[in-house]
Amino acid sequence: MDARLNPFAPGAGTPPPELAGRDEIMERAAIALDRIRSGRAARSLVLYGLRGVGKTVLLNRIRLDAEARGVASVRIEAPEERSLPALLAPALRTALIRLRRLDAAKEGLTRAMKALAGFVGALKLKYGDMELGLDVDAEHGLADSGDLDTDLSDLIAAVGEAAAERGTAVVLFADELQYVPEDQLASLIMALHSANQAQLPITMVAAGLPQLLGAMGRAKSYAERLFEFVLIDRLDESAARTALCLPALREGVEFSDDAVAVVCEQSGGYPYFLQEWGKQSWNVAAASPISGDDARRATEEVLADLDASFFRLRFDRLTPAEKTYMRAMAELGPGPHRSGDVADRLGRKVTAVAPVRNALISKGMIYSPAHGDTAFTVPLFDGFMRRIMPTT
Ligand SMILES: Nc1ncnc2c1ncn2[C@@H]1O[C@H](COP(=O)(O)OP(=O)(O)O)[C@@H](O)[C@H]1O
Ligand SMILES: [Mg+2]
Repeated sequence: MDARLNPFAPGAGTPPPELAGRDEIMERAAIALDRIRSGRAARSLVLYGLRGVGKTVLLNRIRLDAEARGVASVRIEAPEERSLPALLAPALRTALIRLRRLDAAKEGLTRAMKALAGFVGALKLKYGDMELGLDVDAEHGLADSGDLDTDLSDLIAAVGEAAAERGTAVVLFADELQYVPEDQLASLIMALHSANQAQLPITMVAAGLPQLLGAMGRAKSYAERLFEFVLIDRLDESAARTALCLPALREGVEFSDDAVAVVCEQSGGYPYFLQEWGKQSWNVAAASPISGDDARRATEEVLADLDASFFRLRFDRLTPAEKTYMRAMAELGPGPHRSGDVADRLGRKVTAVAPVRNALISKGMIYSPAHGDTAFTVPLFDGFMRRIMPTT
């Protein structure tokens, strides 16, 4: 069918033609943010899940909705190897500039700007990756001690006060939060916690890989009182059907039941894969309705495509030892697997392969769903590993 009209949108963070199955979570987020904005008690959300389940697009959607309701949002994305202060400082500056636009400068805002200046000045040396020019002078004793815990608490409180002064909330939308080192994550949670206790309208909505859950818990035990942890998972059958059929239907194209069954089974209902299968099924089909055979032919193309790009990209970041470890996991199936079983397959001791396993965790390739277990963070990765490394 006409590829020009193909509605499907595979890609990291690419908004889908239909955001299926997430209404309830969006509603929960909206309620929490509106309550926080009006100084009422609520827990904000932390979205966690595997690669390609739709955390980023959901986070962005929650942010756009919140903005439409007048919340001042700040988007940060944690890359590997970047300090939290270096990420936060420019983002908070943007938020303050936005608040300033709401009306003429008020006292709280000026103070928040000064807190930011103090924060940057005091921590610049410690975190060498901070570059931010500010046109205000710091206020002595405000967020300028050089200790991240104290300074971040001061800064977050000052920004929260500026938001309260304007009758709004400042919300940090943080993606890939699992990459923030645990000590810095602890400082952030602590700062948000004390702002929360002071009923200041500032909070964070975060997203990250499953390891974020453990990291936040370890970083600060009261993270659970501050945040509701929401697992973002594959779509159930009816949502997967909607994600696939509705965008096509808007173009006057139908999927046969057989085609839907093939796509759901092959993609496992994972949003990213649904987009890939939807796109290829559309392209190989000669006419509507898209048949089961079309979907089966599309499967070959999708896998070839994924093997050459989505999976391959991740594979290429691995050292030979890491590849061997992942291959041993793949031999055992999709997982999760006992770490002991993986080590056994390698003919090594668990302790001997622990450094490789840890390196894979910090690269975001695998995680530990429960103590002693190991699982892939990318769905269908086991099949890929067996295709790219046919023998162990
Ligand atoms: N609820 C959904 N329904 C349909 N497609 C979705 C949904 N959520 C995400 N997608 C699609 O899945 C892909 C991956 O989304 P993304 O947000 O980047 O995932 P993650 O951040 O979890 O890795 C994108 O192509 C997006 O369009
Ligand atoms: Mg993402």
